[in-house]
Amino acid sequence: METLGMHRRLALGASPAILLLWILAVTVSATKHDVGGKKGWAPDVNYTEWASHERFFVDEWLVFYYQKGMYDVVQVNATDFDRCSAENPITKWNRGHSYAFHLEKPGHYYFICSNGYCYHGMKLSIVAEEATPPAPAPELSPASSSGSFPFTQSLSFPVFFTIATSLAGIF
Ligand SMILES: *[C@@H]1O[C@H](CO)[C@@H](O)[C@H](O)[C@H]1NC(C)=O
Ligand SMILES: *[C@@H]1O[C@H](CO)[C@@H](O)[C@H](O)[C@H]1NC(C)=O
Repeated sequence: METLGMHRRLALGASPAILLLWILAVTVSATKHDVGGKKGWAPDVNYTEWASHERFFVDEWLVFYYQKGMYDVVQVNATDFDRCSAENPITKWNRGHSYAFHLEKPGHYYFICSNGYCYHGMKLSIVAEEATPPAPAPELSPASSSGSFPFTQSLSFPVFFTIATSLAGIF
């Protein structure tokens, strides 16, 4: 979400080409939530407290960062969440040092760490809300599409034009 503000500012007074760049940037940078903030996925962090400051929507990502080889991320149901039981995992991940989980549907999601760490607070329960409709696209004035391009300072016209036309080819 933080990045949106910047893109929106970029889009102000934008030519269609800049708008295209903006659309691409927004499409590529889906919102992700770093579970636990700076503390990551570790014992003795209050994830209820952390989650209470976030809002989760469908199509966003939860990213668990943890100490390699120490912890895992097990998605469980409500019963097993309460019991701290990893016996019936829905999904399970313990490789590398991070795990990105895609919130595909609205509803409750429950995660714990196995090997007893759940009892040390490594449990997260969240609710993913239905995605909000995208903000209406800024109106394009027909004149600007054929007129002069407002350039950003960092891009010369040929470079910018090349990027814009190659992007246009993608769509
Ligand atoms: C975690 O934070 C929540 C909300 O602030 C609080 O109700 C709960 O008691 C805390 N849990 C622990 C184990 O401190
Ligand atoms: C969670 O899964 C266990 C084992 O399959 C099952 O006994 C339990 O009823 C399930 N709980 C919910 C809330 O679905």
